[in-house]
Amino acid sequence: MNSAAETKHVPVPNTTIKPKSRDSKSIYSIQNFSLWYGSDQALYDVQFDIPANNVTAIIGPSGCGKSTFIKALNRMVELVPSVKMLGSINYNGKDIFSPKYKVEELRTNVGMVFQNPNPFPKSIYENVAYGPKIHGIKKKKVLDEIVEKSLKGAALWDEVKDRLQENAFGLSGGQQQRLCIARCLAIEPDVILMDEPTSALDPISTAKIEELVQKLKEDYSIVIVTHNMQQAARISDKTAFFLNGEVIEYSNTDELFSNPEDKRTEDYITGRFG
Ligand SMILES: Nc1ncnc2c1ncn2[C@@H]1O[C@H](COP(=O)(O)OP(=O)(O)OP(=O)(O)O)[C@@H](O)[C@H]1O
Ligand SMILES: [Mg+2]
Repeated sequence: MNSAAETKHVPVPNTTIKPKSRDSKSIYSIQNFSLWYGSDQALYDVQFDIPANNVTAIIGPSGCGKSTFIKALNRMVELVPSVKMLGSINYNGKDIFSPKYKVEELRTNVGMVFQNPNPFPKSIYENVAYGPKIHGIKKKKVLDEIVEKSLKGAALWDEVKDRLQENAFGLSGGQQQRLCIARCLAIEPDVILMDEPTSALDPISTAKIEELVQKLKEDYSIVIVTHNMQQAARISDKTAFFLNGEVIEYSNTDELFSNPEDKRTEDYITGRFG
């Protein structure tokens, strides 16, 4: 950890929560992770493991720290100058905040998809080839292969294979979001972070992304923030319920939704608040 909170650390109950069932290998291990924006604390002693090749859903009401948390997983949150952190986040066994850790390593292994599709103002082809080019790949044949493989991986190839040189802004919102997923896949990440990737999409595009997420977990570990509890229940293996910056409950998704341990989880999933 390269920074410590200057503000007083507000004591909170220990929120050590481990998944109840057998886990696959963990890709992330988060320990006593707290975060402040200036003097405002946004995360309190977050502690849980994120399993590899699973879909992990992050749910909770607006402002409870979901985006802050997933932006900590790729250290994007540090772009906010006032941010202070305590605790640790291990990725593949290494502390990502250790002074020796190379943030570039993390950024190549962890891709991110945002709420609003954000393709570059370039062709469909260039959007996908952009990352590999930055990583030094120049040969057209190799780039062509990566573009095709990534677009196939994002279930978009058939829809765009005859218009690869057209501007990405000509695609529908749902197609643009799958293009952003293809752009992620092109750099061959291990993890894909998704922050409400379907909240700006229509139901059919949403269903396509949900189906895609299910398929992608065979090869990637996925962390998805969603406001939509049905979505979390449909597509995730594990769910973490955040409230006011704390993880209230973390367990197998079916258990969390059918038999929540904490009254606050129950109130949230039954729509009593949020
Ligand atoms: N850049 C920032 N500077 C200061 N405070 C911030 C910043 N980003 C978020 N916060 C604060 O941190 C808290 C958590 O915000 P965050 O965006 O992580 O919540 P969220 O759960 O993703 O909410 P939503 O569901 O509305 O997207 C909020 O109180 C928010 O106001
Ligand atoms: Mg958010």
